[in-house]
Amino acid sequence: CERKEFQASKQRLLVVANRLPVSAVRRDDGSWHLNVSAGGLVSALLGVKEFETKWIGWAGVAVSDEIGRKELTEALAAKRCVPVFLDEEIVQQYYNGYCNNILWPLFHYLGLPQEDRLATTRSFQSQFDAYKKANRLFANAVKEQYEEGDVVWCHDYHLMFLPKYLKEENSKMKVGWFLHTPFPSSEVHRTLPSRSELLRSVLAADLVGFHTYDYGRHFVSACTRILGLEGTPEGVEDQGKLTRVAAFPIGIDSDQFIKAVKLPQVQDLIKELQGRFVGRKVVLGVDRLDMIKGIPQKALAFEKFLEENPNWHDKVVLLQIAVPTRTEVPEYQRLSSQVHEIVGRINGRFGTLTTVPIHHLDRSLDFHSLCALYAITDVALVTSIRDGMNLVSYEFVACQASKKGVLILSEFAGAAQSLGAGAILINPWNVSEVASSIGQALDMPADEREKRHHHNFKHVTSHTSQEWAATFVSELNDTIVEAQLRRTQ
Ligand code: G6P
Repeated sequence: CERKEFQASKQRLLVVANRLPVSAVRRDDGSWHLNVSAGGLVSALLGVKEFETKWIGWAGVAVSDEIGRKELTEALAAKRCVPVFLDEEIVQQYYNGYCNNILWPLFHYLGLPQEDRLATTRSFQSQFDAYKKANRLFANAVKEQYEEGDVVWCHDYHLMFLPKYLKEENSKMKVGWFLHTPFPSSEVHRTLPSRSELLRSVLAADLVGFHTYDYGRHFVSACTRILGLEGTPEGVEDQGKLTRVAAFPIGIDSDQFIKAVKLPQVQDLIKELQGRFVGRKVVLGVDRLDMIKGIPQKALAFEKFLEENPNWHDKVVLLQIAVPTRTEVPEYQRLSSQVHEIVGRINGRFGTLTTVPIHHLDRSLDFHSLCALYAITDVALVTSIRDGMNLVSYEFVACQASKKGVLILSEFAGAAQSLGAGAILINPWNVSEVASSIGQALDMPADEREKRHHHNFKHVTSHTSQEWAATFVSELNDTIVEAQLRRTQ
């Protein structure tokens, strides 16, 4: 009966990601409440109109009883989602361990865990085993849903074994894999004990996508240097089998933000915030509280700016929204303490009886509040030390149609390659450079701000998430057609 949802004429797209676009919370009476996330991937896939999309992923909760699993599966089916159930031990070893303590830092050039982050090589091995086991569970879920002719799109560093497992099961399955993080230099990737297995598993896909050309180039170099395969302008070739590798820079659903800013309730919030910060310029940071976002570096640069510019004391505020994330991983707990310590020190040093220079919030904001905040901001400050793309910079630009504020953007974010001409690019490690960029942005004449904003606005509104998803999926389809043609020639 569930299958009837799909119109016969439409091809089906199975999207497999670690997280579903819905998180499940169990009520006291045992029933399920589903929170739908309005994340980038969800809105991107709404734009892929020629396919019927179904999601397969982890619902973010451990459910051990059969009744709970059955009821959650039914509740999710109404949202076209299929849950993969992971028990607590797997979540600890696969998600907190191998994904977020090993692959995530490595892919962002933070290296492999030191002694204090990983006690023994045995635990490395057990995390790797759990990673493979979890990937197997995702593969089994795909297998159960798959029908001939479906296209399967695997997402991110959590699922690098998935293309291999799926192709072993059915070599005709159309499989694409997209990485949402950077792929590091081959010299960094080669430090990973399981470097070859991961590369070979990804290469089983028909199409492998990255946000930037550089990430794709690093991946191809890793395959040539570590596996000894041949890199071609199209991708990587292994004994006559070509895996196409290409760049597909993601965007946002810009219309959603542009329209939201015009809503009466958002306009009310804008007025309220403007009143709250009257007489002060607003510098804004919106980040998950993650090592890669360079939040300590941002606070230190702001401190230096205040130190060097006493005339700005009391006339500027840094609003930092730091969304808690992966809170069970010790490295993230340490970061949280470090950031609080730095912010407390700066506020103690430059605060007055009535104002503090940094408003730091450990929480996320609802969509409308976020849009209002973007709209009243004078300067957005993105200091990622590495970042696959950074869509906060895109969201800020989309909400600035009337204010035309300045974007200060780390050159280590993928977005620097698309918004570089309109933003002030900085090296977040260079505290003095960031501090002087803050001054430059706050003092920038209106005509220059307008010119820069116009450049970025044009890009953000013409390179949308919908277009990104449609391009990847259509290229995945074509790649297969090409491969089949080659086989029949
Ligand atoms: C990054 C990853 C995503 C991930 C998100 C949130 O953007 O590329 O795959 O979903 O962070 O992290 P979390 O661990 O909460 O899913």
